[in-house]
Amino acid sequence: MERDIDRVLISAEEIARTVDRLGAEITRDYAGREPYLVGILRGAVVFLSDLVRRIPLPLTMDFMAISSYGASRRSSGIVKIIQDLSANINGRDVIIVEDIVDTGLTVNYLKELLEVRGPRSLATCTLLNKLSRRKVPVKVEYIGIEVPDEFVVGYGLDYGERYRNLKEICVLKEAVYTDE
Ligand code: IMP
Ligand code: MG
Repeated sequence: MERDIDRVLISAEEIARTVDRLGAEITRDYAGREPYLVGILRGAVVFLSDLVRRIPLPLTMDFMAISSYGASRRSSGIVKIIQDLSANINGRDVIIVEDIVDTGLTVNYLKELLEVRGPRSLATCTLLNKLSRRKVPVKVEYIGIEVPDEFVVGYGLDYGERYRNLKEICVLKEAVYTDE
């Protein structure tokens, strides 16, 4: 894995500081309520598991799996549900938790899908944001770190299912993609 990395973009310390801040913001905004956090599989798992430990409120963790990029770096724009939530979110304060918002297509689709189920509120929290790549405008209430228009891996984010276990957010060497 190490030899595939070109450089570290975001250190483990900076990630931890960012998760601390997001956790504090959510804790402040949801005080007295019981948020329902929806992690988008599989990229958001690492982030969500750190985030919930920084929110000292009663909360629920649930997951949703949607079609991913596969091994490619490009978005197909087609989003398909592979695994749905395990409970009814009617009347709940739902927070979608994503690893990264890139074109915005995924979060846009998820928001439309969950909104019709009648949550009391619906917000989105993402660790990373690639604003320069947006195709559809999407409101994201909690944003961790703005990243440049580069494909990144680590801390849950993958390329061809690999590199999710890196502690930092990294950019891979160009040679890793040449088989694409
Ligand atoms: P969007 O629909 O284009 O906003 O893409 C969102 C999803 O694409 C994320 O949840 C990621 O799974 C994936 N993705 C987008 N950019 C990257 C990246 O730089 N590295 C890894 N996955 C990415
Ligand atoms: Mg994802």
